[in-house]
Amino acid sequence: MPRIVVGGAQWGDEGKGKITDYLALEADVVVRYQGGNNAGHTIVFNGKKYPLSILPSGIFRSNCTNVLANGMVINPDKLLEEIAYYKSEGFEINLKISNRAQIIMPYHLDLDGAAENLKENKIGTTKKGIGPAYSDKINRIGLRMGDLLNLDSAKRILKEALVIKNLELKSYGLNPYDAHSLFKKLEMYAEELGKYICDTSIFLNQMAKEDKYILFEGAQGAMLCNDHGTFPYVTSSSPLASSVPLNAGLAPRYIDNVLGIVKAYATRVGEGNFPTEQNNEIGNTLRERGHEYGTVTHRPRRCGWIDIVAIKHAIRVSGINQIALMLLDVLSGFDTIKIGVSYNFKGEVIDYVPSNIDDFALVTPNYIEVPGFKEDITNVTSYEDLPENAKNYIAKLEELLETKITIVSVGPDRKQTIVREKIW
Ligand code: GDP
Ligand code: IMO
Ligand code: MG
Repeated sequence: MPRIVVGGAQWGDEGKGKITDYLALEADVVVRYQGGNNAGHTIVFNGKKYPLSILPSGIFRSNCTNVLANGMVINPDKLLEEIAYYKSEGFEINLKISNRAQIIMPYHLDLDGAAENLKENKIGTTKKGIGPAYSDKINRIGLRMGDLLNLDSAKRILKEALVIKNLELKSYGLNPYDAHSLFKKLEMYAEELGKYICDTSIFLNQMAKEDKYILFEGAQGAMLCNDHGTFPYVTSSSPLASSVPLNAGLAPRYIDNVLGIVKAYATRVGEGNFPTEQNNEIGNTLRERGHEYGTVTHRPRRCGWIDIVAIKHAIRVSGINQIALMLLDVLSGFDTIKIGVSYNFKGEVIDYVPSNIDDFALVTPNYIEVPGFKEDITNVTSYEDLPENAKNYIAKLEELLETKITIVSVGPDRKQTIVREKIW
């Protein structure tokens, strides 16, 4: 199976980075296809932690090409920082940036914060300008990476965008931007990033035709999908596998395999209902054991039990055909483990996610309880050696989710990965 999508099946931070890094060891190409530097993946190998927010996880291997595809929104200042950091760490930057990816400009960051401040029900965005940049794209204004290769055109596009953006900024009581100083920035971006910019759709189609191993790396999680997530408490793009063809410029027939990343419990950053949340000692224990603090914003993550209804929703809308179960080691020490299996909603038991946010806020979960395990499993390397109750938990999840769990992760390091079935 030479093309795999790796995507989160919960509310983000499921451990996608660890698995894309692991699979990237055999990949020819790794592609980020949506989102921007709202994503934060932590990768651990050789005893060192590597945070990534824009660059794909294949960046640690010089013979792997990394692609930032058209579906992304890119903050060039942050991308340049990330490139400089990984160059200084000795990694070669083998990168291609889509000429059709939207650019996040400084005014997008101002507008992200300003709009959030006005809302009574705040989303709790990462304030990286993601929503405002995607809004401009849909509204057909603003700059794309390829515009940097034609600076006369970029200047015209910038001036046109600023007429609208400055009006918006003023309406929020914020300072407008001067076209000249922003254009200087664009010239610098062109100088520094121009060599990476190309038509990545042409490249990816060629790679697919040659049966190269291509890994599509999702950011966020299915429940944060702009279409199928818990709208409006979502991000502004779609992390689903179904968005890959559009967001990478590749035929749907090229997607062979969708690996859903599932945390052995559940976390959420930012606002929005979270039915299985444990705002109590259990949640605190999960947070401390799992070091559940955001990579991007350092906010404490909200923690709770696994929610089967939400994951089944993700399996359906994203076409997930196998699962990597992450952070199983964090559950060690509980006498019993709860699994949310259905919701109570207006006197009925339901097994779906209501679309209306005020309806979703009314659901309460029904749980089943299974025996926990006490052993430290962080050094276990084969499935057979896991404690009986850990294996029983995995089997129960497979039964409830009707999907095979092919990878079990028992620690943050590359080595702490139990592969039950070959993925590529
Ligand atoms: P992503 O956004 O989905 O890539 O996930 P993050 O990197 O934001 O958050 C997952 C965190 O869990 C990171 O700090 C990882 O290093 C860590 N991690 C990944 N897998 C495991 C695991 O199996 N066990 C433990 N204890 N930590 C893990
Ligand atoms: P990774 O790739 C967890 C959340 C934010 C907020 C909402 C909208 O690390 O899984 P945005 O800045 O995108 O407009 O914020 O989405 N959010 C994430 N939560 N992990 C992420 O990425 C996230 N990216 C966005 O907290 O609630
Ligand atoms: Mg993350």
